[in-house]
Parts: sequence; C-alpha cells; structure tokens
Amino acid sequence: MRKPIVAGNWKMNTSLEEARALAGELRSTLSAYSTVERVLIPPFPWIVPLADILDGSDIVLGAQDCAVEDQGAFTGEVSARMLAPLCRYIIVGHSERRHIIGETDEVVAAKLRAVLRNGARPILCVGELLEERERGEARAVVERQLQSAFADVEAADVLRTVIAYEPVWAIGTGRAATPEDAREMANWIREVLARHVGAEAANEIRVQYGGSVNADNAAGFLSLPEIDGALVGGASLKADQFTQIVERAA
Ligand code: G3P
Repeated sequence: MRKPIVAGNWKMNTSLEEARALAGELRSTLSAYSTVERVLIPPFPWIVPLADILDGSDIVLGAQDCAVEDQGAFTGEVSARMLAPLCRYIIVGHSERRHIIGETDEVVAAKLRAVLRNGARPILCVGELLEERERGEARAVVERQLQSAFADVEAADVLRTVIAYEPVWAIGTGRAATPEDAREMANWIREVLARHVGAEAANEIRVQYGGSVNADNAAGFLSLPEIDGALVGGASLKADQFTQIVERAA
C-alpha cells in the first residue's frame, strides 16, 4: 500500500517572518492528517528555523535542490550531506532547474545519487515541455529522464525515490493537466521503472502530480489510484489551500 505524500515547494518565496508564520499555522492545520505524508520544502535559509517549529510533529521538511558534491570548494552550493540531517526529501531535476538553470540529465542523475548517498530520499521531477507534448514526445521525454536518473542506481534505492510528474506547461500557469493525462503518465512511469526494478516493485513507487494543483482541482488527481500525491507550488504558500489539498489526499 503506497502512503499518500503531499509536498509544498515554496520555491524562492517568503520572508523569514512569513515562513515562520506559515509553518506554525500548517503545524496546526495539518496535524489531523497523519495518514498523509506531509512535506514542507522551504528555501534553504529557512530550513533550520522551520525544523525548530516542526519539532515534535510528524510533518517533515524537504529541500529544493542540492549540490552534486558532498563538500569542498563549491561556493554557494549546499550539499545533501548538510541537508540530510534536517530534510527527509530533496527535490532533484525540477523543471525550473532543468530549463532555467540549464541542469542536464547527467547533473540531475549525479544529484539524485548524492541524495541517496547521504541517506535522504529524492523527489525526482520529470515532465515534458508543451512543444514536446504537441509533437507526441511526452512519453519519450519522461522515459529519457527516468533512464538517465536511474542508470547507476540500485533497485533498492530506486524504491526510495518519489517521482513527481510535472508537465512543464502546467507549472505556474494555472493550466493544470487533466487527471487522465496524469494517470496515463503515472502508468508509463511505472512501466519504464519496471524494466529497472521489476513490475511488482515498480508498483510500490509513489508518483505525485505537480502543476497548478489547488484546492479546487486536487481531488481530481488525488482520487486516482495511480496518483499518490501532489507536488504543490503556489498553492502551498497559502495555509488554507495547502491544508485542503492534504485533506483531499487523506
Ligand atoms: O514543484 C511544484 C511546482 O513546480 C508546481 O508549481 O505553482 O504550478 O503548483 P505550481
């Protein structure tokens, strides 16, 4: 049985005061939904103060990225080794890092291995551009991203990874994919991963949908047996919205 997981990716948003207030409110409003794994993923600087705020609760923290290396002369980088003591999850391969920062499949794969090497759990983001979907290449793009990420990863570690299907054209646009789009891609993701870990194990891997999820459309995705949760951006910055999304997953 796959435990639902709803994560809020705050991206580069909130002041320290806003982050403290939001985390404090969510600690209260999310406490009733222990059947859902609830993950807050703030900007790096707020991880430590939020760890204090969430201490004693079963709400966990995540990080939005990490370095390839574990330590060294990499100015400005933050390693998975530094993050793992406070973050159960670390996002790798977010489309904003792939398409804005220019992270390659190879860099994403190296970051995924860094997360695993340091005892945290990856949330691996995969998804196609609108023009790739329009050319009928969505499945091929996701297949390429999965195969690259897991090329040198043991089956047991693949099973520690959460996959977030985030069609790039649905992120931050208010234009979510349809639940059927999400279902079809979740099935494809498990089919591709079955080549790596076998069909039975692939069926244990959790797949989130991300891309303009909000309190109004969340039920459409979270009611599908193929979808195990959501990776939420904008709506995660509003306590009532995010709480309602978690409630839909419970
Ligand atoms: O990582 C989740 C994010 O990319 C989705 O953003 O604002 O479309 O929910 P948003």
